[in-house]
Amino acid sequence: MEETCKNVYITTPIYYVNDVAHIGHAYTTIIADMLARYSRLVGYDTFFLTGTDEHGQKIAQSAEARGKTAKEYADEVSGKFRQLWDDFDISYNKFIRTTDEEHKIGVQKAFEKMYEKGDIYKGEYEGYYCVSCETFFTEKQLVDEEFCPDCGKPTNIVKEESFFFKLSKYEDKLLKWYEENEDCILPRAKKNEIVNFVKGGLKDLSISRTSFDWGVKLPDSINEPNHVMYVWLDALMNYITALGYGTTEENMNYWPCKVHLVGKDILRFHSIYWPAFLMSLDLPLPDHIAAHGWWTRDGEKMSKSKGNVVNPKEVADAYGLDAFRYFMLREVPFGQDGDFSQKALIDRINSDLGNDLGNLLNRISGMSGKYFDFKVSSKDVEKFHQKELNEVNEILENVEEYIFKMQLNRYLEDIWKVLTIANKAIGDYEPWAKMKEGKTDEAMALVALITNIVARVALLLDSVMPEKISKIATSLGMEISTDTYNKLIVNKGLLDDTTITKVEQLFPRIEEVLLEQPNVSDTSKTEVEEKSAKKETQTQEEEPDNLITIDKFFETTLKIGTIVEAEEVPKSKKLLKLQVDLGEGRNRQILAGIKEFYSADDLIGTQACVVANLKPAKLMGMLSEGMLMAAKDENGLSLIRPEIPKKSGTKIS
Ligand code: MSP
Repeated sequence: MEETCKNVYITTPIYYVNDVAHIGHAYTTIIADMLARYSRLVGYDTFFLTGTDEHGQKIAQSAEARGKTAKEYADEVSGKFRQLWDDFDISYNKFIRTTDEEHKIGVQKAFEKMYEKGDIYKGEYEGYYCVSCETFFTEKQLVDEEFCPDCGKPTNIVKEESFFFKLSKYEDKLLKWYEENEDCILPRAKKNEIVNFVKGGLKDLSISRTSFDWGVKLPDSINEPNHVMYVWLDALMNYITALGYGTTEENMNYWPCKVHLVGKDILRFHSIYWPAFLMSLDLPLPDHIAAHGWWTRDGEKMSKSKGNVVNPKEVADAYGLDAFRYFMLREVPFGQDGDFSQKALIDRINSDLGNDLGNLLNRISGMSGKYFDFKVSSKDVEKFHQKELNEVNEILENVEEYIFKMQLNRYLEDIWKVLTIANKAIGDYEPWAKMKEGKTDEAMALVALITNIVARVALLLDSVMPEKISKIATSLGMEISTDTYNKLIVNKGLLDDTTITKVEQLFPRIEEVLLEQPNVSDTSKTEVEEKSAKKETQTQEEEPDNLITIDKFFETTLKIGTIVEAEEVPKSKKLLKLQVDLGEGRNRQILAGIKEFYSADDLIGTQACVVANLKPAKLMGMLSEGMLMAAKDENGLSLIRPEIPKKSGTKIS
């Protein structure tokens, strides 16, 4: 980050309160949270804003459809967004609502200022309006003369008195800004689209409506009580009213914004209207407006009507919040669209997090425990491992640059290169062999090298996976702080002598019983090579106590079973009696303790994973010839089932 920038202001879009939060919303918020956490750790005075967008026709209509007032409805949904971000430990400094009194006052002040400057005039709007996108269109822009070019929904013809903002006046100034500030819109490809759009000519923008009243009134000084502000003018202003613009001004020192994070669908509003409004207000322009791509599910756009919306809370509950955060940030290059699949998420957890990162921590505690009573000293690292240290430092020197250029996946890729160096060093130097040869200093230097690498990585991953990283830090006896960041990352120093504490496995392997076989041919050659190199490095040294060999695992026969009959066991609170087809030509009778969670009727025709080689046992006098696999947490019990139905009796491996 540039040296001059001491205050860092990061924003998410404010979310419309007519929808439930899905992974698209979570994505924007998680990226912003990562940037904010990273900035704080580096030592910048950081202000992170999120909130909800509560005015406009769309929200008024949604509320009416539910028999609620707009404010009641907005309170309810805004509360849910806030709750979700709190559950996700999102480190926002302020949660703004456009129904907040200070916001309304600030927007009115801004309107007055733009009006006084001569940038707002009264006229009549005649054209087409898409309520869903809250956007005006000309006839030429419509699809089939009727439909919104953005969302495809029918538009309404609007003819009403309206105030206009002189957007056309700012055309040249905007083009100059784009030209002089290479990274003002990220990624660059998206910037080109915007520049071409503006070059095509800008029309003045209608900024007030009279046909409904759920919005911020125009300032009293204008004396037009029938007008409310256009929702995008109201919404965009949140970025300054949240800092006290027009009221307390108390946090205006954070302006201009470092990064406005937005989805690609709302980039035009942010990179054309917003800078033009700011120019009109004589305020400096943001450093970056960064537009990410869209998440689809199984290749389709997510929507409530299709029932394919991915609930971020469910994913985080099932797989862990930190793993979910890592996945979102790593899986898709910023700006591109991504498809959400559980398989990809599980692969990331098992491979990147479990094998590469988690295992390394196990190895540190294993080796330091076995050879050095958990003590680690960095005193000989430079003597024996200058080469590895140089490699690591060289890679990490550049990673910071990626952050505010929004190349987050590259940031993570480079951190993983460093983990590869650590894993490889263990195989190359074989500390167990050094111990046998009596070269204790060399073995210690190697363990300390690995500890120092993981410590550096922990500092850089703290913004991505704060909870897991705090466990790693505890295990290494280090503090995640700006001081440590400066010492290890900026000044490339080494850890003080430390004592390692054993921690539970950080990323336990997620069983692949839920999955189809991973498609090995999809994996690039270098990745395959890297993976096998890594396996070779995991040789003789000790493993955590609870690990078993693959042979041991295969002693259990797991199969897909189809439940063909199900009935309650009389007098039993827990048991259901099931007849399960395991493809053996006869059904097995299995008694399962799941009555509190499933009704017998709902189970018939469904599948489950079955332990097929359990010794038959009698429960309440009845024979049970197997066991269904299930997972239970505080939210209840779920049977483990194949993601896609499989033939009865299919073996699980
Ligand atoms: N209220 C406006 C923003 C006003 S900001 C001054 C709005 N709200 S929204 O709730 O519809 O969208 C908020 C953000 O969520 C946008 O950045 C949008 O791109 C993002 N996403 C909504 N669905 C998405 C996906 N399926 N995938 C990724 N992000 C998407 O627009």
